[in-house]
Amino acid sequence: MYNSTRIRLIEPTDAAPIAAHRVRDFEAFRSWEPAQPADFFTPEGQAERIDKLLAGYQAGTVWPGAVVADGQVIGQITVGGILPQPHLRRGSVGYWISSVAQNQGHAGQALGLVLQVMTDELGLHRAEASTNLANLPSQRVLRRNGFTPYGVAHSSIFLNGSWQDGLLWERILSD
Ligand SMILES: CC(C)(COP(=O)(O)OP(=O)(O)OC[C@H]1O[C@@H](n2cnc3c(N)ncnc32)[C@H](O)[C@@H]1OP(=O)(O)O)[C@@H](O)C(=O)NCCC(=O)NCCS
Repeated sequence: MYNSTRIRLIEPTDAAPIAAHRVRDFEAFRSWEPAQPADFFTPEGQAERIDKLLAGYQAGTVWPGAVVADGQVIGQITVGGILPQPHLRRGSVGYWISSVAQNQGHAGQALGLVLQVMTDELGLHRAEASTNLANLPSQRVLRRNGFTPYGVAHSSIFLNGSWQDGLLWERILSD
């Protein structure tokens, strides 16, 4: 059982625990996360991905977070597609929590924390997200953090062997 939740920028040393979680959760995540190449499930492959995420952070397009509880990495939360221009100021949130730590409120807390980062650190005005229509846990996490659904993107993501619709979510962060 994990207790407190915090988020921080992802680090190269997160590669091994992330790879271990994603190997364990391969089947559990099949319906919700896109298929990945074999190297996604190795520490080396994750290290390369973390390097790219941190390059995106340096470029201002991504805020790549690790979700940590009791000193252990239990998931990721990422703000992607950041558009910082004054007339846009938006970003899109994605996350996963390891099956060993689910249903303890971690995703909900992590999302609340990343919304603070988006507002205070990134100066964004609008947060977006997308879920599968059947992903009720993720929809609960979004609703609990003030997101509302605003539409359906038809046939927008190839998941578990077929093109599927995405439910689109929004939350206005500030004026
Ligand atoms: C979605 C996910 C991030 C949620 O993480 P989590 O830490 O378990 O989330 P929380 O504990 O904060 O909240 C889970 C909520 O789902 C609810 N829930 C759990 N199973 C459910 C089910 N079968 N049907 C409906 N609601 C369910 C819980 O009751 C809770 O809602 P509540 O706060 O109103 O009680 C996690 O399940 C996950 O990583 N899944 C696989 C990857 C994924 O789906 N990523 C998101 C893609 S959009």
